[in-house]
Amino acid sequence: MQVDLLAGTGYRPLAIPRLQPTILVFDSGLGGLTVLSRTTEICAGTHIVYAADDAGFPYGRLGEDALVARVLAVMERLVARFHPDLVVIACNTASTLVLPALRARFAIPFVGTVPAIKPAAGATRSGMISVLATPGTVARVYTRELVERYAAECEVTLVGSTKLAGLAERALKGEPVDDDALIAEIAPCFVEKAGRRTDVVTLSCTHYPLLLERMRRLAPWPVEWIDPAPAIARRVAELLGPTAGIPCPDATAVFTAGRGLSGPLRIALAGYGLARIAIEPMPLAN
Ligand code: DGL
Repeated sequence: MQVDLLAGTGYRPLAIPRLQPTILVFDSGLGGLTVLSRTTEICAGTHIVYAADDAGFPYGRLGEDALVARVLAVMERLVARFHPDLVVIACNTASTLVLPALRARFAIPFVGTVPAIKPAAGATRSGMISVLATPGTVARVYTRELVERYAAECEVTLVGSTKLAGLAERALKGEPVDDDALIAEIAPCFVEKAGRRTDVVTLSCTHYPLLLERMRRLAPWPVEWIDPAPAIARRVAELLGPTAGIPCPDATAVFTAGRGLSGPLRIALAGYGLARIAIEPMPLAN
């Protein structure tokens, strides 16, 4: 699967490869963990900082100017504190908008996460694909351009879910999430028309793979679900070049809301190798 993540940026593998580089994986909340786990699988020996801008969550509801300003401000703080060698914007809602501003501001490679429309168009046999994303991502000019460029021959249904990212966070924190709530959010992805039906759904919010097994079970018919995380991880590995391969024990999760974390959330984070927690309070209004 190819995902057009870095078109036009001209990044090359890091000029002076570091054997234990620091990767900052950034999202509005916990969705980027789905990218983190794939990345650590193939980039062993990297220092990992996972940053969740939970004070800004969910990004899907923010206007475009507010989101650009927010991500730049948070990134400024994170870069000053952690000095990453590479940043993964593990958030479609941010990547489809903010990458040019980040690349203009910082001299660090940024790897983005954008809707996997090209792979979806390559995989469909019925010609009907659905893009399940946040309302922000489906509204982006960037997303519309991906559809025109790579899926002009397909019938593409853009589904902007207002609730699914929040439901994924609840599930990860061990809170109950009703099947009915999930069914209602994924239902618009399943379209039947003139004897054809949707056969590919691209998960274009990094939170959604957290619910993949349940969505598979609750879907009205089987489809191919595309999670771009493995492609993102491969791109990170390609840019980093060889790493030491020795596990770094200091993986840290940073949160911006300044709230305490629940026990189940701490356990879930530890399951992703994030045993250290740091709080970097950044209220949204600032
Ligand atoms: N995980 C984010 C994404 O990939 C978004 C969730 C949100 O903050 O709305 O789009």
